[in-house]
Amino acid sequence: MAETPTIYVLNGPNLNLLGTREPEIYGSDTLDMIAERLRSQGGNLGFHIEFRQSNHEGTLIDWIQEAGAKAAHAILINAAGYTHTSIAIHDALKAVTVPVFEVHLSEPKEREAFRHTSYVGMVAKECFSGHGAKSYELALDAAAQL
Ligand code: DQA
Repeated sequence: MAETPTIYVLNGPNLNLLGTREPEIYGSDTLDMIAERLRSQGGNLGFHIEFRQSNHEGTLIDWIQEAGAKAAHAILINAAGYTHTSIAIHDALKAVTVPVFEVHLSEPKEREAFRHTSYVGMVAKECFSGHGAKSYELALDAAAQL
């Protein structure tokens, strides 16, 4: 039997604090709640969801490389603050042949100017932002359709 294809959902710094972190901007869902919904949605779409969070840039890069080595179906990434700073994450996403979907709860382009540059967006197929936790679900639907 063919192996269930995997979609990596990678989350960057401070997203472990969702639920209590600036809920007026990021909503009240915890990352565990989002993970649970995505696993169930992924299962219904025929995918295994590898959902992870790290506060460390190098760990996120190791996971991007892992997704590449395992020929994952797609990477959904909310690189959080690293979105706007990390050339290393940009390079890692570019180095793998896995399609990348950028995710944000808020709409960074409508916030402070320092959030307007996205090094992830430059290498992503599509970006889903500004829909709260639903941004993840929309990105998963798009990734599943590839
Ligand atoms: C974020 C937006 C980023 O600008 C911010 O640094 C985050 C969260 C979002 O999901 O809205 O940590 O990626």
